[in-house]
Amino acid sequence: MADDQVLTDMLTMLDRSPEVLALRVCVIELLIERERYADALAHCGTALGHEPGNTQVLALMTRCTTALSGGAPTPAATSVAAPATSASGSAAAQPDFDWAAAEDEVGDIIEPAFVHGVPTEFVTDDDAATVERPTLRLADVGGMAEVKQQLDLTLLGPLRNPELAAAFGTSVRGGLLLYGPPGCGKTFLASAVAGELGANFYPIEITDILDIYTGASERNVHSIFEMARRNAPCVLFLDEVDALGHKRSQMQASTTMRTVVNQLLTEMDSATHSNEGVFVLGATNHPWDVDVALRRPGRFDRMIFVGLPDLAARSSILHYHLRDRPVAGIDLNALAAHTDGLSGADLAHVCTTATQLAMADSMRSGEVRPIGMADVRAALAQIRPSTGAWFESARNVVEFANGDGSYDELATYLRRMKRR
Ligand SMILES: Nc1ncnc2c1ncn2[C@@H]1O[C@H](COP(=O)(O)OP(=O)(O)O)[C@@H](O)[C@H]1O
Ligand SMILES: [Mg+2]
Repeated sequence: MADDQVLTDMLTMLDRSPEVLALRVCVIELLIERERYADALAHCGTALGHEPGNTQVLALMTRCTTALSGGAPTPAATSVAAPATSASGSAAAQPDFDWAAAEDEVGDIIEPAFVHGVPTEFVTDDDAATVERPTLRLADVGGMAEVKQQLDLTLLGPLRNPELAAAFGTSVRGGLLLYGPPGCGKTFLASAVAGELGANFYPIEITDILDIYTGASERNVHSIFEMARRNAPCVLFLDEVDALGHKRSQMQASTTMRTVVNQLLTEMDSATHSNEGVFVLGATNHPWDVDVALRRPGRFDRMIFVGLPDLAARSSILHYHLRDRPVAGIDLNALAAHTDGLSGADLAHVCTTATQLAMADSMRSGEVRPIGMADVRAALAQIRPSTGAWFESARNVVEFANGDGSYDELATYLRRMKRR
């Protein structure tokens, strides 16, 4: 059978290059397709030996152990295994498989519904491949009542009102900028906003559009806005807006960054472009590095602070990251209560580590056992909050650079935190 030839070929290649993780992942996927779970599991063990904690391998391993213990692999898990870029079949079936791209997939594995692949070509006939239609709603975002209220007041409320529908066209004047420590839900919230509006969601990381060739970054910016306009109503989500600031720029020596900022301002300006139905939402971990021109009135002039997840948010984050994994006796509320100070990303990490511990144990004993409270506690003991450095910078900014009151909200938050 041609299919088995594919597997044979892949195994031969793996023999020659046993260290190539992407290759082993392909073999694991092929073995799972053929329901050879025990063989697949053995390869998972080898892969984790090379790269402990690899989330993609862990997800595949969960599928194997679930199948071996009698449960059917979940459809979600099935879609996780298939690279987002391949429309059909497994990546291994593609003749010119891109190893680098496969490696890139690894980071996205926990959140299959929110894979934010930034297009390599910005003008494409197939807009559907890059623009998402999120089903996520604000109700899916746990806790964070204040942030949700602010979004409702400044953005969603006016837009939901049919008499103010026209405001959608002009609301691009005065984009919103979400800011706060890394891994605390900015991207998640932006996607939920698009879901609330029933709009398309077009996530872009600024660093991915910057190009060293003269004029190319500007053209990328233009193409992105053209794509957003074609797909209106659309939430254009510009992540890492601070990358355009001179302080962080790798291209300080040239004037490149200035012209990119200018291009962005021109595109956002509804006097020069019809941005009807395009809402620009920005995000940054370091608003103090954002180019001042972008912070002026009519641009990213309204900032919303997204802080560490509160109790309800933590519970919902933990639930989200354990949803497709075999668990038993997990008390989400107790865990949420004990994880104050951890970011969403930290919590995701805890879940991955706990999974790994349970898997390692299963492999040692040869018996599959689900993830329990003891695994999560052991994982928690290994983790330190990752946002320490961010709060250091934030404290300095509030103390020394809040002359205009831009960071009053942050200042209040820091004061409140200290009281705890
Ligand atoms: N309030 C929340 N409810 C549910 N999940 C959340 C919440 N906040 C964050 N998350 C999860 O935490 C992770 C990090 O969030 P993300 O939006 O990527 O952070 P940021 O963009 O601020 O760096 C995501 O996997 C997201 O699913
Ligand atoms: Mg983000």
